Amino acid sequence: MRRGKLISIEGIDGAGKTTLAGALAAALSERGIDVRLLREPGGVQAAEQIRELVKDPDRVIGARAETLLYAAARAQLIEEAIEPLLSSGTWVLLDRFIDSSLAYQGGGRQLGVDQVREINAFATGGLLPDRTLLLYLDPALARTRSRRRTDPPDRLERERDDFHATIARTYEELASGDPERIRRLDASQDERTLLASALRALEDLA
Ligand SMILES: Nc1ncnc2c1ncn2[C@@H]1O[C@H](COP(=O)(O)OP(=O)(O)OP(=O)(O)O)[C@@H](O)[C@H]1O
Ligand SMILES: [Mg+2]
Repeated sequence: MRRGKLISIEGIDGAGKTTLAGALAAALSERGIDVRLLREPGGVQAAEQIRELVKDPDRVIGARAETLLYAAARAQLIEEAIEPLLSSGTWVLLDRFIDSSLAYQGGGRQLGVDQVREINAFATGGLLPDRTLLLYLDPALARTRSRRRTDPPDRLERERDDFHATIARTYEELASGDPERIRRLDASQDERTLLASALRALEDLA
């Protein structure tokens, strides 16, 4: 049995990750690929409970605890869902993964990318995506897109603008450091054009 591919979608809040993830899952299925879409944090029961906790605007959670909670959710998702799926040949599409922790907690929360990478290496047992699609979009435009949604902002969305600018910059640094795995996609493109770019960035994996 050929192992499935692990693909993550990354980018700042409102960049269009969830929208692209849905379209991409459908497009890959149409091409005869068995694919499962999972979101982070979450995807399995214990991790969904951690999601509720970390997103709750009424909770006080320090940067280190936040990092460990995301890592714990990730460890459980991998053990319970991702590894079994990949082993059975299914492709796994992730709406956020390890690079979110590197950018948000390593960069945004200023814990340092290297330190957060180490914690995540423990959580994931070293598992990395075969490919990461990084949606880049001007943070101001991403903010307008997020505001269009009706649900109230969560604990991280309520952070200041410079927090989000640092995250965008850290994502760029991660992409320059690993251009083979992380492919940058211009998220200002319309949904159909963006989907076509995403499919092209995955062509060599099939
Ligand atoms: N390519 C696009 N062009 C224009 N608008 C888009 C595009 N992709 C998504 N949108 C719109 O932008 C908003 C945010 O999209 P989406 O929820 O997919 O972003 P996200 O990256 O998943 O955000 P979050 O990080 O908050 O989960 C939605 O209203 C969506 O319809
Ligand atoms: Mg989303």
